[in-house]
Amino acid sequence: MKLHAVTTLKVDTSTLVLFAAQDDKKLSCDVKGTGFEDAFKLLEDAQAEGKFKGASKEALFFRSCNCSGFKNVLAVGLGAKKSLNEEAVRIGAAIAAKTLVKEKVKSAALALQPLRKLTKTAEGAGRAVSEGFVLGAYKYEEMKSKKKDDKETSKSLSDLYLVLKDSPALKKFEKGVHVGLILAEATNFARDLGNAPSNYMTPTILADRAHEAAKGLGIKFKALGKKECQALKMGCFLGVNKGSHEEPRFIVMEYFGGKKSEKPIAFVGKGLTFDTGGISIKPSANLEDMKFDMCGGAAVIATIVAIARLKLKVNVVGLVPSTENMPGGGAIKPGDVLVAMNGKTVEVNNTDAEGRLILADALAYACDHYSPRAIFDAATLTGACVIALGNVFSGFFTQDSKLLKQINESSQSSGERLWQLPLTEEYVDDMKGTYADLSNISSGKGGGSSTGAAFLSQFVTEGTPWAHFDIAPTAYSAGRFAYNPDKGATGVIVRLFSQLAMDL
Ligand code: BES
Ligand code: MN
Ligand code: ZN
Repeated sequence: MKLHAVTTLKVDTSTLVLFAAQDDKKLSCDVKGTGFEDAFKLLEDAQAEGKFKGASKEALFFRSCNCSGFKNVLAVGLGAKKSLNEEAVRIGAAIAAKTLVKEKVKSAALALQPLRKLTKTAEGAGRAVSEGFVLGAYKYEEMKSKKKDDKETSKSLSDLYLVLKDSPALKKFEKGVHVGLILAEATNFARDLGNAPSNYMTPTILADRAHEAAKGLGIKFKALGKKECQALKMGCFLGVNKGSHEEPRFIVMEYFGGKKSEKPIAFVGKGLTFDTGGISIKPSANLEDMKFDMCGGAAVIATIVAIARLKLKVNVVGLVPSTENMPGGGAIKPGDVLVAMNGKTVEVNNTDAEGRLILADALAYACDHYSPRAIFDAATLTGACVIALGNVFSGFFTQDSKLLKQINESSQSSGERLWQLPLTEEYVDDMKGTYADLSNISSGKGGGSSTGAAFLSQFVTEGTPWAHFDIAPTAYSAGRFAYNPDKGATGVIVRLFSQLAMDL
């Protein structure tokens, strides 16, 4: 998708998108002097007839109305003017994109003037518009066979013209649009990786896709294979891989855009390309969803790409341990003891608690190789987190008060919703092993997300600020938000992680 910022109404498209908010019982849309007055009149008439209220997620398409120089007009509601924020704009833009796709419209002009007074900053509004639009237009069609006449339809919606006469303000919008576009494209990239079925998304393929995406952006890339991981003594990561015929990959992406002396921020993502549970095998219901168990890893890969494309002056590293979790003759068995890279021994009492095992070595690797100034990990780690939070919030855990404050702030500005869950010593106690240092499952009752986090904490060097994000609730099938697809990977946490890199 191409976004063009323009100061003229003479754009080469036949469809206009006009946002309107609700002001008491009236429609509110700042069109004075824009040339879009007639189009707004159309909306007001529709409102008088009770056909359009300006409510959030509401869209009305006027085909062949020939208004304000456009053949068609798409009216999109933003909800109450009083409570309008960037999220409302993001949702509005997503609804606009989805409607245009449905109506098979290939390009459109979007009037920015109405957004000027409704949002805090032009930059924030620009970012929300491009994020919402590009995220909302997303479709995963890689696995559909190509029909002859598909060429045209799959190309629907390729250009969006953002129209504002006031060119200084447009510059500010444009800045936000640029950032929003990169973040949304990175999110869509993470979605593509997540949606690919496991036979098309093995650890090797994931590494290859990451390598390809890193090219030309100043990202240093390597993918460690089995032998290299053996040399590094990554016993937990390799233990999980034992039942699989697919080679593991430990993906390392470095982008050093900051000062040489500055320690990097490490992003770590769970890259389980398919989780059968292993010998502690999962039941069949919804098992197909376990192709999404690499969504944390996909988000980390996409975050590094976004940061590099934004040319942020920060040092970051992305680490993604990637393997399948399969039952098989070589698979680890309940009770087996694995030795992690940091020397700690782990009793595997449930082979389905594999995410924490592969992350254990990745976190230890991060601390050992980079002494990072902060570590953020993302993982579809526990079903318990889905039970706790549904599919609205991602859960997160941190014991660092500065990081906590930063995460809450960055969550606000990125628009990605988080809920903090507890991580205290008691949960660590629950993870002590009977025969080894640690067990990979809790000896206590409930609190599965917290005990998972507590296990991970044992692989982060003391004093390193660290936060763990359990994205099992939000990584897929969250048609909840208009800018997410109804089904499939959401690309969650890419926007938040990129924001953290901007803010820290
Ligand atoms: N990948 C799953 C977690 C998961 C479950 C993600 C449902 C998305 C939806 C993870 O590897 C897992 O199996 N966790 C176990 C841990 C348990 C054995 C301690 C779980 O949540 O049941
Ligand atoms: Mn599992
Ligand atoms: Zn898993």
